[in-house]
Amino acid sequence: MTVNEKMVGSINVRIDRTASHGEVSFSMARRHWDSGMCTEALVAVIEAGRHEPWLELLYRTTDRRNLASQRVMEKAGMERDRDFRSSRTRGGQPVEEARYTISLKE
Ligand SMILES: CC(C)(COP(=O)(O)OP(=O)(O)OC[C@H]1O[C@@H](n2cnc3c(N)ncnc32)[C@H](O)[C@@H]1OP(=O)(O)O)[C@@H](O)C(=O)NCCC(=O)NCCS
Repeated sequence: MTVNEKMVGSINVRIDRTASHGEVSFSMARRHWDSGMCTEALVAVIEAGRHEPWLELLYRTTDRRNLASQRVMEKAGMERDRDFRSSRTRGGQPVEEARYTISLKE
């Protein structure tokens, strides 16, 4: 994502072709938060994914404290399908995660 030709954020999809799944990640420079850009980018990625015949599902897991990330996924049409305790830690504590998914093939 760019503003005035400067990169202010990114969105990536890590594809697992054997599982027909893609894991989405995104981040945005703080001064561009709440600009709507991240949601716009996620909607575009989902739309592009619908045109890949072999890709069935996109997902993202996020720290449950990251409410902005969850809101972005909800606005883009993803649904929360699982809460779990992660193996990764923050401040010595396991991270409580939420997984969001969207099926690309109805
Ligand atoms: C997640 C992130 C990439 C979203 O990018 P963005 O450009 O802000 O996304 P958008 O503008 O498309 O949408 C953000 C939405 O989240 C909402 N939001 C922002 N902060 C929020 C909060 N603390 N609680 C609930 N919703 C929040 C905004 O109001 C907006 O929703 P709305 O359009 O319904 O008002 C960006 O905020 C980010 O990198 N955040 C850093 C991670 C973080 O927040 N960590 C918190 C501790 S884990």
